[in-house]
Amino acid sequence: MLDKIQNLFSDTQIQQRVADLGRQISSDYAGRSLVLVSVLRGSIFFTTDLARHIRLPLAMDFLSISSYGEGSEGVVRITKDLEENIAGKDVLLVEDIVDTGFTLKYLLRSLQSRTPASLEVCTLLDRKARRIIEIDLKYVGFEIPDKFVVGYGLDYKQQFRNLPYIGVIQPDKI
Ligand code: PRP
Repeated sequence: MLDKIQNLFSDTQIQQRVADLGRQISSDYAGRSLVLVSVLRGSIFFTTDLARHIRLPLAMDFLSISSYGEGSEGVVRITKDLEENIAGKDVLLVEDIVDTGFTLKYLLRSLQSRTPASLEVCTLLDRKARRIIEIDLKYVGFEIPDKFVVGYGLDYKQQFRNLPYIGVIQPDKI
């Protein structure tokens, strides 16, 4: 099955890019502390690697969402909320991939209503071709083509999240 996955970004490429992002974030937020908010489940690998490259006082929090209807264009709902209050905090929302932007639109509105000092987005992958809602993504790891990708947190039917690289699959051939 793994032989049907075509390599897109190697383990090394991902780690180098994550380190770059960590350096950039450390410099942009110098002198401040940060709350990393990770959206389960896909962004868990990216978040934990990114956190280790950020040289700032840092807290981590997690939320889970579910979406109904046609992908995330339906109703997005928080199924597990943050543990901590983010009012007055510098918050960085960490995603594995942004497609239509519906999930982020919903999450940003929910988090913004809690009056953080600042709220920005860091996504590992940006599949721009699928965008419907324009959203300002402050940090982007890689822009990717309109293909189905798995690995490094991204799944196909809950499989392949554990691959250390990111690859393209054709779901009808798996
Ligand atoms: C992915 C991703 C975002 C959302 C983006 O999650 O992590 O949350 O889709 O899509 P959108 O821009 O079209 O709203 P997914 O539903 O695959 O869940 P997972 O993280 O648990 O794999």
